[in-house]
Amino acid sequence: MHPTDEGTEVANTQGAGGSKISPGKAGAPALAVEHLTKRFGDRVAYSDVSFEIGYGEVFGFLGPNGAGKTTTVRTLGTLIAPTSGSAMVAGMRLSAANGPAIRQKISIMPESPGLYLRLTVEENLECFAGLYGLGGTKARIHEALEAVNLLERAKDLCGALSKGLRQRVALARALLNDPEVLFLDEPTSGLDPVAAREVHELITGMRERGVTIFLTTHRLEEAERLCDRVAILNTTLRMIGRPDELRKELFARTLDVRTKVPLADPGAVFSGLPGVEGWSDSGAAMYRLEVSDPEAAAPGVARALVRAEADVVSIAESRHTLEDVYLQLVGEEERAERK
Ligand SMILES: Nc1ncnc2c1ncn2[C@@H]1O[C@H](COP(=O)(O)OP(=O)(O)OP(=O)(O)O)[C@@H](O)[C@H]1O
Ligand SMILES: [Mg+2]
Repeated sequence: MHPTDEGTEVANTQGAGGSKISPGKAGAPALAVEHLTKRFGDRVAYSDVSFEIGYGEVFGFLGPNGAGKTTTVRTLGTLIAPTSGSAMVAGMRLSAANGPAIRQKISIMPESPGLYLRLTVEENLECFAGLYGLGGTKARIHEALEAVNLLERAKDLCGALSKGLRQRVALARALLNDPEVLFLDEPTSGLDPVAAREVHELITGMRERGVTIFLTTHRLEEAERLCDRVAILNTTLRMIGRPDELRKELFARTLDVRTKVPLADPGAVFSGLPGVEGWSDSGAAMYRLEVSDPEAAAPGVARALVRAEADVVSIAESRHTLEDVYLQLVGEEERAERK
């Protein structure tokens, strides 16, 4: 019997149980990747990738289609060997010999669930728990199904479940071995907003239990909401950091000013104000001011507008989302490639 798709990718083995962060691990990296490269023949899947992730961190891995995200997950999940470079996974050096020991401490939820569609939810989980030699199967399955809110569908055939519910079964399967490091490859792809929100809540719950989460996603608001840090990959690593750090690094800080009617002479109002480095007219009575520190500059801007007898509608620091960061980085590269 074979799973419908990619079922063999699941890397669950005997679980350790209990709390995820022992005192000795605090501050130690759960994943440390150094100059990792994977080539398939002439095709480079990812190249010279280096980063570290701490225990208990939720780490977002973003990048366009074909960027190398899944291949990175497969490598760190011990399913394929890197071409060069080195990595530590859950405190162990990534090597063929350490594969079984690493797989005891990690779990992967692959891009496609890979379930036996003619078996029930419970039978699927029994089957995978059995394959990986997990003890205490009944209790583990109960706990995993409870975690993903699927207890009442335990007797349903997987083939009769919706896409979102299958995704949840796959997540339950990934929880069976109580992993220290959990790789989630696009866990909310194709889910409706409510189902996606449920997966987010599960991820938050796992994070609270101290599970380190490596999350690949195309949903940038998901990464923004859930991740402590994110990396943007496009074959090579383009940026890594907290979402707010990336925003600061990529975008100048600006104040957006809106008045009721266009200013007669905006240059006279904005030029030379303390902390204002430049300004531009955005049209429709809106102006964008480049500032070094928005909070320090805003009161002076407000006073200058009042002096000019302008009717101020709003003065606000312009907000850049992680999506802006991503599009700035990846969008520009893609536009350059198309030229
Ligand atoms: N087994 C393989 N043999 C040959 N090439 C492969 C193999 N697996 C992946 N690749 C190639 O490596 C590159 C990276 O693929 P990967 O699946 O890691 O991308 P991804 O970032 O996960 O993309 P997506 O967002 O579409 O899931 C692609 O060019 C892909 O075609
Ligand atoms: Mg992928």
